[in-house]
Amino acid sequence: MTIASSMEEAGFRPASRIASIGVSQILEIGRKAASLKAEGKPVIVLGAGEPDFDTPTTIKDAAKAAIDRGETKYTALDGTPALKRAIVEKFRRENGVDYTTDEVTVATGAKQILFNAFMASLDPGDEVIIPTPFWTSYSDIVEICGGVPVLVPCDGAAGFRLKADQLERAITPRTRWVLLNSPSNPSGAAYSAEDYRPLLDTLLRHPQVWLMVDDMYEHIVYDGFDFVTPAALEPRLKSRILTINGVSKAYAMTGWRIGYAGGPRDLIKAMAVVQSQSTSCPSSVSQAAALAALTGPQGILAERRESFRERRDLVVKALNEIAGLNCRVPEGAFYAFAGCAGMIGRIKPDGASIASDRDFTDYLLDSAHVAVVPGSAFGLSPYFRISYATAKSELEEALDRIAEACGRLRR
Ligand SMILES: Cc1ncc(COP(=O)(O)O)c(C=O)c1O
Repeated sequence: MTIASSMEEAGFRPASRIASIGVSQILEIGRKAASLKAEGKPVIVLGAGEPDFDTPTTIKDAAKAAIDRGETKYTALDGTPALKRAIVEKFRRENGVDYTTDEVTVATGAKQILFNAFMASLDPGDEVIIPTPFWTSYSDIVEICGGVPVLVPCDGAAGFRLKADQLERAITPRTRWVLLNSPSNPSGAAYSAEDYRPLLDTLLRHPQVWLMVDDMYEHIVYDGFDFVTPAALEPRLKSRILTINGVSKAYAMTGWRIGYAGGPRDLIKAMAVVQSQSTSCPSSVSQAAALAALTGPQGILAERRESFRERRDLVVKALNEIAGLNCRVPEGAFYAFAGCAGMIGRIKPDGASIASDRDFTDYLLDSAHVAVVPGSAFGLSPYFRISYATAKSELEEALDRIAEACGRLRR
């Protein structure tokens, strides 16, 4: 053995389960934006995946009171009895779905719920159907858990929603799950009862396929959109649906790290096994805060929804006024997902041409100092995502700069 090869062996060798997972484009762009900021450039970052509001005071007070009561120890493995009862009540009250306390689970964020569920259910090579554009973590988590993401493109013309014939074509004997997210990060598109119906009918014909729904943005919907969840729409599928939700986005609690889900008892039990050997339980103090969020006054949801709606309208209108861009009006979440096909092939002031959505978003960052995320980061091009969970004045300034930068591109 040469010295060089023994040194090589001593170096870090990533496990194959993470070898194919690269650094996310979102992080790369964030890093670039931070370094431009450090150089003194007036960068506006429209990439945040979290509300810009603070956690409501009543929730913070509940957490402080829990600390003072000594609720600072390990809790029951997948949620305190009180929080589980509140979640059961939430599903009943808001979604019309009846779960029992042993059919709900609490984890350190909805992200850990996804991780627990896939870890508990996927064998190597099992397939998970994910419509694109999708929240990037979905496919990475599936891969880490040994599964195979099967990506199905759903473009703006289709309302960024999966259609039944696409689902039918994507199903194979290896399909374990279909993963739907409504309203969606990044597209903001949501599924109405009518949109869900043909998909649920398709699933009724394929008893080996389970449905995971991510309802994280349930409370951030506009224009009277009637939010529905599949377990309520189709009771015959309830025994193979995992309904995921959390407090991060609705109550501006991203840092508290509490997510939850309702689903069939055996799956919930298997997820607890995974959790027992990773985090043992979610934070006791955060669970007390989440309990206050779910059982306390809910008026804050409507107030904040209205503020997001104003910003959505501002952003979508400004984007559609720029020749070469088009933006569908999203039903929910706090993201606009705009098409930039009209910018592809245009020439930048330095003479180089824009060949992709990533080129376009790099150009916006370099020349307008506005950071947005290319559709390629979410599995669908050519698009880009703007998060409008930012002050109105910043949004206006950013959109002016985007318009000017687009105006400097030659055909
Ligand atoms: C669609 C979607 N699901 C789940 C999550 C994760 O939420 P949590 O903070 O509960 O882990 C996010 C966060 O960005 C999200 O956008």
